[in-house]
Amino acid sequence: MKNVLVTGGAGFIGSNFINHILDNSDDVFIVNLDKLTYAGNLENLKVSQNNKRYKFIKGDICNYELVENIFSDYKIKYVINFAAESHVDRSILGSQVFYHTNVIGTNVVLELSRRFEVERFLQVSTDEVYGSLGATGLFTESTPISPNSPYSSSKAAADMMVSAFYHTYGMPVLITRCSNNYGPLQFPEKLIPLMIINALNDKPLPVYGDGMNVRDWIYVLDHNIAIQTVLEKGTPGNVYNVGAKTEKPNIEIVKLILNYLNKSEDLIKYVSDRPGHDKRYAIDNTKIETELGWQPSFKFEDAIGKTIDWYLANKSWWEKIISGEYRNYYDTQYGKR
Ligand code: NAD
Ligand code: DAU
Repeated sequence: MKNVLVTGGAGFIGSNFINHILDNSDDVFIVNLDKLTYAGNLENLKVSQNNKRYKFIKGDICNYELVENIFSDYKIKYVINFAAESHVDRSILGSQVFYHTNVIGTNVVLELSRRFEVERFLQVSTDEVYGSLGATGLFTESTPISPNSPYSSSKAAADMMVSAFYHTYGMPVLITRCSNNYGPLQFPEKLIPLMIINALNDKPLPVYGDGMNVRDWIYVLDHNIAIQTVLEKGTPGNVYNVGAKTEKPNIEIVKLILNYLNKSEDLIKYVSDRPGHDKRYAIDNTKIETELGWQPSFKFEDAIGKTIDWYLANKSWWEKIISGEYRNYYDTQYGKR
């Protein structure tokens, strides 16, 4: 049995990962350590709390003693560090928790992974560490790190730390840098679920700036299969970019969602731009394709429809969220723009 510590497994990508892995492998025991911040939700997980191959622990990755006990009690051999504060807009409103969790928290998990001699430590990172592209070009693994937001700078700091542990201690670390994910269970502060839910509620769809910033989209299951591939086959010390060659200006996504839901484009509301807004992200995924044989398998045209259908079918999931803490966040910070 492979004992895997998954941090942040109640969030969007981590919960999709656990749901997929427990359904598709028999030899994995997962310990899910999650603080259950506003973004963590145990309802995201299909697994029963009585499942013998799964253990949920509520806690903070910054808590050294707690994480030390987990390593010792569960004989952890593999670590996947998803846990993070993940939303750029929130990092602009207040950066401290981002550096605390994303840098100090990563240090705790990494340091203990070293002490307990894990076989693999995988840091789930982001293409945002590379900064912003102009009209042409792609991010490769050798593009210099040049983050622009508090969020991306905290993720870049963590990446540097993980690489340093490889160079200093020879630790078997791996880093994945993925582009923008979409799919079921994404917290409705991010572009795609926010636009779906606002459209369904006939509320304005806030588009930052001129709507021409470009993001490179990947279906969450493709990202998670890439993580599994890198964990199993990646070369220690290496970074792997993950993307699905699906660049889209934001306004195109917003119009597609309105069209799919048969709603009027009059709902679009251009609002003031995000401070320091990166213009364009685009991933060159040649390395993971050629070295590890991973390829994305979901086409955007199909998977975006599947995603919108999921939000249509799971109204109770998001209604609970938007009537709680998130409601206040949206109304006070972004509703006024
Ligand atoms: P998310 O915000 O949906 O989930 C984050 C999870 O981490 C939540 O369950 C939260 O409770 C947990 N968490 C936060 N602070 C914690 C702490 N101190 N201790 C323990 N748990 C804590 O984020 P996501 O979109 O699922 O992103 C997961 C990872 O993937 C992050 O590291 C993010 O940087 C990275 N990533 C995200 C994307 C994307 O498009 N969403 C793309 C590339 C990389
Ligand atoms: O690129 C990977 C990153 O993608 C991850 O590392 C981050 O965790 C994840 O949050 C995401 O960051 P972005 O800032 O790109 O995602 P977000 O959904 O916040 O915004 C996508 C684009 O849409 C961006 O150009 C800003 C724009 N936007 C966003 C929101 C929430 C709007 O125009 N209006 C909005 O209301």
